[in-house]
Amino acid sequence: MTDGQRIPVIIDCDTGVDDALALLFAVRHPALDVRAITCVAGNTDVDGVVRNTLTVLEVAGAGDIPVARGAERPLIEPVRTARHVHGQDGMGDLGLPAPTRVAVDVDAVTLLRREILASPRPVTLIPMAPLTNIALLLRTHPEVTRNIERIVFMGGAVATGNATPVAEFNVWHDPEAAAVLLTAGVPITMYGLDVFKKVLVPAGEVQRLRSSAEPSLRMAGDLLAHRDPATSGDPTPTGGLGDAGAVCAVVDPKGLTTERLPVEVVLAPGPARGQTIVDRRPRLGESEIHEGMREQPLVDVALGVDVERYVQLWLKTLD
Ligand code: BDR
Ligand code: CA
Repeated sequence: MTDGQRIPVIIDCDTGVDDALALLFAVRHPALDVRAITCVAGNTDVDGVVRNTLTVLEVAGAGDIPVARGAERPLIEPVRTARHVHGQDGMGDLGLPAPTRVAVDVDAVTLLRREILASPRPVTLIPMAPLTNIALLLRTHPEVTRNIERIVFMGGAVATGNATPVAEFNVWHDPEAAAVLLTAGVPITMYGLDVFKKVLVPAGEVQRLRSSAEPSLRMAGDLLAHRDPATSGDPTPTGGLGDAGAVCAVVDPKGLTTERLPVEVVLAPGPARGQTIVDRRPRLGESEIHEGMREQPLVDVALGVDVERYVQLWLKTLD
């Protein structure tokens, strides 16, 4: 595959156990040209995210991909990490050595703007973290949308949340930023919790990776083993690919079933803050009939995923 045929992508992450699984896949897949990676506070503090991201690139033996530090807190909310899920270091406490690579000396918004506008082909943005960097980018440099092909983001949920009963972590962490993203005016795919939770690597494959002699495969296995074994109710844990599924969706969109639907983020304080309301009604309701249509962005919402297809794609790419 020549450079001109590869899909130029930029990843915004909060590495993060499953962000790491996504990065390993992205830097290995021959159809992707990872032009930059930007970091934001989320699963852990932003400095931890930068360190973890550089560690993953180093273990993966990735090329020289620029990594930039971004927002250290959401637009309005305080920082609320997910260390109870991702470990004290944000990446499973695997005891990995500190990276020798360093981040570039420009901030994430500057790097995003520079790499998006410099790309010879429109870029696909893959945010898999709270959307603070992306909102700041869109508000500071709105001209970037002319060279964005689409945004495939991990966030939101049609049905059940995780941070709250109805809100997914990335959107809940910075709801205002998510609302800005949804109105970016470019095609958007929402890879939400509904599909995110389904893509599980079988226990046998996790064990195989863990016992590999190749460091990046071993790390992938250890990260997968760290993924939420308790909730599967299975004594032999399977590992969720999490954010990596969103990258699979860029490489192989046919593995995803989507529907173009209106999506709105709840910004009001209270128990629904951070919820993504996805309107799946087949016809107008009384609210629209009596009060008129409200302007709502249309988003390609992932409603189904071919689990086997994405698991095999991810495994084959890593192997
Ligand atoms: C999202 O939150 C983070 O914990 C994961 O990395 C993923 O991006 C899931 O809600
Ligand atoms: Ca993430």
